[in-house]
Amino acid sequence: MNLILLGPPGAGKGTQASRLVKERGMVQLSTGDMLRAAVAAGTPVGLAAKAVMDAGGLVSDEIVNGILSERLDQPDARAGFILDGYPRTDVQADALDAMLGDKGLQIDHVIELVVDEDALVDRITGRFTCGSCGEGYHDRYKLPKVADTCDVCGGHAFKRRADDNASTVRQRMAEYRAKTAPIIPHYQSRGIVARVDGMASMDAVAGSIDAILDA
Ligand code: AP5
Repeated sequence: MNLILLGPPGAGKGTQASRLVKERGMVQLSTGDMLRAAVAAGTPVGLAAKAVMDAGGLVSDEIVNGILSERLDQPDARAGFILDGYPRTDVQADALDAMLGDKGLQIDHVIELVVDEDALVDRITGRFTCGSCGEGYHDRYKLPKVADTCDVCGGHAFKRRADDNASTVRQRMAEYRAKTAPIIPHYQSRGIVARVDGMASMDAVAGSIDAILDA
């Protein structure tokens, strides 16, 4: 089973994708994570992407389609994948159709996390992750059980994203409204879009997603 998680920044795409990885053995394909890895490694893609990401804009379709296509070619993607943060434009949605067609794959579900944008600034500015294993936390909604110690790996170093500040988040939301939300009809015509209340608790969102996948 292959799915797309859609929703503005902070909607909970990464949170739910990483849960599905743990619980269902699916593969999370996050273009944001791929781009951040390229930035950290100082590759040509990373160098081209950094300023755009820091400003809350969208990296070029050409770059993003290229990294996603390479990632889809890796054998683990055949076990079922979750697209987290892709596609984000009409051009990417069309490119994805072409890539999947070539590889004999398809999207089974598109899950749109419906959220209140004003609440998302708070979610995003409070977000941090374990620097060792990447487990996600939040200053109020999900603190480590033992202070300054990762629940998963016991690490003590945590990090915050460079683009997780209030002004950049507003720009990322504007990009979502202008360029990403309009791709939803692309999938609605196929009858594979489901809407989930992303303002519910993490467990409730998880339950709604599971009900869709298991129907
Ligand atoms: P990307 O990394 O994809 O970021 P994003 O879409 O802005 O989404 P986020 O990761 O911020 O949010 P999320 O929905 O995953 O929320 P999370 O689960 O962490 O992209 C970053 C940048 O890369 C883009 O701006 C762009 O420049 C570039 N890029 C990436 N893909 C691209 C593409 N395809 N094309 C062009 N450019 C691209 O949750 C947030 C917080 O809330 C967490 O702390 C979490 O614990 C908490 N939380 C989650 N769910 C709940 C809940 N139900 N209740 C309470 N708290 C919750």
